[in-house]
Amino acid sequence: MTPPNPAAQTAFGPMVLAAIEHNEPPQRRLVDDDLAASFLPAGLRTLVAATRVGALRRAVIAASERSGPGLWASLACRKRYIDERLSDPVTEIDAVVVLGAGMDTRAYRIARHSDMAVFEVDQRLNTDRKTAVVRRVLGAVPPSVHLVAVDFERDELMPALAAHGYNTSARTFFIWEGVTQYLAPEAVRATLGQLAAAAPGSRLVFTYVRQDFIEGTERYGAEAVYRRFRVRSQLWKTGLVPEQVGDLLAEYGWRLVEQAGPSYYRDTYIHPAGRALAASPLEWVVLAER
Ligand SMILES: C[S@@+](CC[C@H](N)C(=O)[O-])C[C@H]1O[C@@H](n2cnc3c(N)ncnc32)[C@H](O)[C@@H]1O
Repeated sequence: MTPPNPAAQTAFGPMVLAAIEHNEPPQRRLVDDDLAASFLPAGLRTLVAATRVGALRRAVIAASERSGPGLWASLACRKRYIDERLSDPVTEIDAVVVLGAGMDTRAYRIARHSDMAVFEVDQRLNTDRKTAVVRRVLGAVPPSVHLVAVDFERDELMPALAAHGYNTSARTFFIWEGVTQYLAPEAVRATLGQLAAAAPGSRLVFTYVRQDFIEGTERYGAEAVYRRFRVRSQLWKTGLVPEQVGDLLAEYGWRLVEQAGPSYYRDTYIHPAGRALAASPLEWVVLAER
């Protein structure tokens, strides 16, 4: 029997959220992902289908707001931000690497219109699950998409990618979304150390949870999230200080381009969509280049 792996289970939450957001009318969506629902297991697909009814959808979002105020909008908007930066025509790239991809659908949305190589990296349990999901939904894994089993706590990323055909001279868009908090600080640094070998012209987008939340000195109203991830499961292990992110990246040869958080999400995505939500200051997204 496979031992329980609570970190791997977290792959589903963001895609449930993206799938429920997709049930909003197009102009009110914070993120657009027509594949998200189909990538979920049957029980979660049923839940998502029920939220086509507006009142049920609002009830699910309200429940999320009670346990982690602002996290619904933060997660939806981080996905939108990353999709936009990835498709920005000024960013010329040859490959995409999604670190801790979980059930994320980007690789398969890219494969609809491009044969650019996309590497999805996750723990073996999730790369096996994902392979089965993609076969169920799409019939086969597209030839341009490569699933790579890596444990960031133990394995070296770059040799694993190379073994699956990744060319280290490729200008690469690395995405590390919703993952750094699940790793020990040493594993975050070890992964950044691996990314120091990325080709010039590469981009890195990653999210992080603030260190004061991890240390318990600031809860940002998210008491239930603190109890779940810091007290009971202790799944969240690493946080960063926004003012120190630029220096951390510089140690590994990356230049900080920008960090986005609640005010950017409010002005760029939430208000234009006419949604009465605020994003949380707990999690930030970072764009870097080299
Ligand atoms: C919250 S999910 C985020 C999934 C996806 N990036 C998203 O935002 O939709 C965290 C992901 O990180 C992966 N992860 C956590 N610890 C890991 C490790 N030590 N090595 C590889 N992947 C890991 C989990 O398996 C899971 O898929």
